Amino acid sequence: MTAPAVPLPLGDEERRRPTGAVVWITGLSGAGKTTLAQAAERVLFERGCGVFVLDGDKVRHGLCADLGFSLPERSENIRRIGEVARLFYEAGQIVIVSAISPLRADRARARALIPAPYFIEVHCRCPLAVCEARDPKGLYRRARAGLLPEFTGISSPYEAPDGPELVVDSATTSVADEVARLVDVLERRGLLT
Ligand code: PPS
Ligand code: MG
Repeated sequence: MTAPAVPLPLGDEERRRPTGAVVWITGLSGAGKTTLAQAAERVLFERGCGVFVLDGDKVRHGLCADLGFSLPERSENIRRIGEVARLFYEAGQIVIVSAISPLRADRARARALIPAPYFIEVHCRCPLAVCEARDPKGLYRRARAGLLPEFTGISSPYEAPDGPELVVDSATTSVADEVARLVDVLERRGLLT
């Protein structure tokens, strides 16, 4: 009797079917990253995509609970999020990262983990004054009062992306339009089935 054939290990291309991708949303606190990520997740989910949001605020309650907001700690936070995003990408998911990710070098490192057409950097752009006026969590008020050190845009840097795949201006664009523009980018890259 011949022994049954051992199933072949999955190849990288097979595992990523239908399509893995990383959508990396960067922007100031209060710019609308989480809102865009959640709306895009809903739309992609309803189109039948496997999609998952990795939100900085949320990740910091578990995987990155040991990290604060110094620049080295932010770099480590982004490194970990990038590595987790890569794993989801390899599993064939569309990962939507919503994290301030203030440093260009850290975003470049995350980008380098993913083959070019599958990494989409989105700058969720919004003037600091508008973010500050929104202040949904009262963080800007606390930062201005000196109660929250190293706050992005106030006492910690934010480096806007040089050549993101998409820029959305959340002060002047509806969330639905932002999502439509993102879906358009994904479609033009052949990432949606
Ligand atoms: S980073 O810079 O990418 O590591 O930040 P991230 O993991 O996205 O976490 C940002 C959220 O943490 C809250 N928060 C702060 N943000 C910026 N600076 C300081 N000092 C800070 N302290 C707390 C804040 O709720 C951020 O969430 P968003 O959704 O960006 O407002
Ligand atoms: Mg958020």
